[in-house]
Amino acid sequence: MKTIKLHDKEFKPFISEQQIDAAVTKMAQDVANDLGDEVPVFIGILNGSFMLVSDFVKKYPKPCEVTFIKLASYEGVKSTEDIQRLIGLTQDLTGRTVVILEDIIDTGNTLHEIHRIFKNENVKQLIIATLFYKPEAYKKDFKLHYVGIEIPNKFIVGYGLDYDGLGRDLPAVYQLKTTQHMTNLVLFGPPGAGKGTQANFLKEKYNLVHISTGDVFRFNIKNETALGMLAKSYMDKGELVPDQVTIDMLNAEVEKNADANGFIFDGFPRTNAQAEALDKLMDTKDSQINAMIALEVDDEVLVQRLLERGKSSGRADDADESIIRNRIKEYYNKTAILKDYYSAQDKYFGVDGVGSIEEITERLCAVIDKL
Ligand code: IMP
Ligand code: MG
Repeated sequence: MKTIKLHDKEFKPFISEQQIDAAVTKMAQDVANDLGDEVPVFIGILNGSFMLVSDFVKKYPKPCEVTFIKLASYEGVKSTEDIQRLIGLTQDLTGRTVVILEDIIDTGNTLHEIHRIFKNENVKQLIIATLFYKPEAYKKDFKLHYVGIEIPNKFIVGYGLDYDGLGRDLPAVYQLKTTQHMTNLVLFGPPGAGKGTQANFLKEKYNLVHISTGDVFRFNIKNETALGMLAKSYMDKGELVPDQVTIDMLNAEVEKNADANGFIFDGFPRTNAQAEALDKLMDTKDSQINAMIALEVDDEVLVQRLLERGKSSGRADDADESIIRNRIKEYYNKTAILKDYYSAQDKYFGVDGVGSIEEITERLCAVIDKL
């Protein structure tokens, strides 16, 4: 799932369809177990609850009645308490067990109105069930008999809930993003593809911070930071540095550059687990990885480029053709899974890495400008 835009605001994925389904299933079962042979009248509060009610009653394992009401503010009436009027309650509910199905309970003002309205209906019992509940925002004492999912006091959309009319149709729930928009890239390319050169152009043009995991490691170890020492202790034993240690280092880098327009990650992630960890890290920053951009260069071109470089640089690993070919092969073995990981999210962009430096920069910019 990706960040979405409704009107002027951005929202990030927050609660999945599966999580919602599980919560609705559980609520329906709990209510059914508690009500025994009673045939309840489920009352959805429109508009927000239409999706919940539809799913809920399909999961309700016993006979039930379903109806909807709507609360509307009186137009033009000014009062301290926003007294609402009721639309749609035509049925006699005397002696009935009524279960209010709410999409969300926030301050509890709506619930207050519901209690006021139902005081005169002589119902047998008034039961409140809400899919979402914001405990930090709730200011009333009315009992909430069934709560699906407790959420923090942040604005959400989807599954019936709207932001200024939009978003009700979304099958999952998204949360309002409160930080500025960032462009975060994972840059890939086989050895000799010109990644370093291009990263330098991109960070200038888009005001991004280039985070090369190799540099971050060397910096932390050289400066003997706590994380650097921790990483070194694994390396000295000949063990791989755990992903969490690397992620903690990257987190420190991201936090050092909190006002950046975004980041170029270089050399990380290398595995699915690392890609997931990076997604989680970006999520804690109310952000996300927008794209994996891979420079694509034909093997033969790479071999020629690296052999050329070897002649002048004297780098031993650039002098031997079979070592070069092996490094290129390694690269494709390692990055194939990541290509799949980001492709599955529509975030993989292959860019032709053959041409002049300016031509390649232009191709990269064309991708980034569309993100
Ligand atoms: P109350 O504050 O409990 O009375 O909630 C009032 C109404 O505000 C709810 O019925 C929703 O229509 C709306 N609402 C509260 N929180 C949210 C939210 O996070 N997203 C969308 N609508 C919300
Ligand atoms: Mg509502």
